[in-house]
Amino acid sequence: MIPAALVIPAALADVVDPSSKEPPHMTRPLMHFRPARNWMNDPNGLVFHDGSFHLFYQYNPEGSTHGFMSWGHATSPDLTHWQELPVALRYTDEDEIFSGSVVYDEHDTSGLGVDGVAPLIAVYTLASRLRARQAQGIASSTDGGLTWTPYPGNPVLDRASADFRDPKVFRYRGEAGEHWVMVAVEAVERRVVLYRSDDLITWTHLSEYGPRGAVGGVWECPDLFPLAVDGDPDDVRWVLLISLNPGGIAGGSGTQYVIGSFDGERFTPDDPAPAVSAPAAERQSRADLEAFDWIDYGRDCYAGVTFSGLADDQRILIAWMSNWDYAGDMPAEGEDGTQRGAMTLPRRLSLTRRGGRIRLVQTPIAVIGDAVDELEAGPVWIRPGAPRELHAPRAGRMRVRMRLEDGAVAELRIGDDDAPVAVIRCTAAELTLDRRGGAEGELPASFGSVERLPLDGGGVVDAELWLDDGSVEVFCEDGTAVLTDRIPARTSSSLSLHAVGGTVRVDQLTVAPVADAARTEVQA
Ligand code: FRU
Repeated sequence: MIPAALVIPAALADVVDPSSKEPPHMTRPLMHFRPARNWMNDPNGLVFHDGSFHLFYQYNPEGSTHGFMSWGHATSPDLTHWQELPVALRYTDEDEIFSGSVVYDEHDTSGLGVDGVAPLIAVYTLASRLRARQAQGIASSTDGGLTWTPYPGNPVLDRASADFRDPKVFRYRGEAGEHWVMVAVEAVERRVVLYRSDDLITWTHLSEYGPRGAVGGVWECPDLFPLAVDGDPDDVRWVLLISLNPGGIAGGSGTQYVIGSFDGERFTPDDPAPAVSAPAAERQSRADLEAFDWIDYGRDCYAGVTFSGLADDQRILIAWMSNWDYAGDMPAEGEDGTQRGAMTLPRRLSLTRRGGRIRLVQTPIAVIGDAVDELEAGPVWIRPGAPRELHAPRAGRMRVRMRLEDGAVAELRIGDDDAPVAVIRCTAAELTLDRRGGAEGELPASFGSVERLPLDGGGVVDAELWLDDGSVEVFCEDGTAVLTDRIPARTSSSLSLHAVGGTVRVDQLTVAPVADAARTEVQA
């Protein structure tokens, strides 16, 4: 059913043929985007254009495993209601279409516009199916991203490398003038490579970054963008995102970020981590990794990149909510049992100064309904043995502000009290998420784990938990400390807050479902 509040952009509604079998065209309110069937991984080509958010993504049109990689496509007017559209870029006998980005070539610098219509340009990795070669290709669209014409001169950038991938292109405007910039990776060398172009077709090498910081796995899916610190336009820093797999802070796939400056040519970190040689990587311990900055301390937030086509202060990230450690072994879902993979919540990014450092802030974007559970008058004290039972919507948000007294540990049990599928524990120093309960059976052995998010609130915990079927995203400390984990399927709607070893004083507590009705507030 199409919610009344939803406006489908006319250009898209007109071309959708509901009788076509592949893929299913539908508009669904989803807390976390997932296609109706088949395998999905990284978000690709995130672009806001003509009033629509376009989400392309790594997609296998042929089945439930990683392979035949193509770009799936969905659009949304509000990042909540998604309409799945036909596959945008399809694999061929020669190449798979790996990750990349889309820009609006407003002034038709590429000359690929048609009849005065400026094109959208997709820049992506052609991953050869015939030999060990990855190079960058482009395609153009003049119908708002529905159909794409691969450039006949592809590839446009070839380094004769087997691991050169994931181009993210943006328009640089600054002291060095104005040009297109591509950030991509030499994945195995743990290098971000930067190129420039005036027409999106001819690319010249600018500079490189790395190996530095976390290097325990291949580098993938970089992004580079400016953000004002605490909204101050005179204090703009650049953020470099680098996903790596394995070697993430929680094990397996993870994403580090680096704050620095960019002069149109070179990224310079403010606080450079020492350069390392990739083989030394094997020795990076958890303590080593904690010295770096991570967008997420959970196991299921990978390959996140941001939208182009929005103002610089509207920087929105979406990531793949899985981990290469087990993504292919997770049970397939969906109506026909073929669907694997989902995205995280979209998150607005900003920068803030906190504890003497500049930190990335993530604010989830979702539509939420009226509270179904809240503290009428706070504070209340929760004592050992007397938990507070809460109503847990299938998809919703819990906000809690609490103080841990006498060294108490606050424990949130998700699912039945005596057999929770996941337990979140907060001490003054950290929040942990334990998802070992319920992880037997269908789930792969490597799924059961405990994740740790360092906290610096001195025993005051201010957290937002976004709970969906099979996942939880936790945002603490004003969104500077984030943990995303898939969790085993819930068999009950129970949720309970316990105090262990002391008293927990709760000052604020609200639980509200994610809504799909018109009568909702958009949180941003
Ligand atoms: C990241 C990644 C990318 C690659 C894509 C292939 O998850 O490995 O480096 O382009 O997935 O699907």
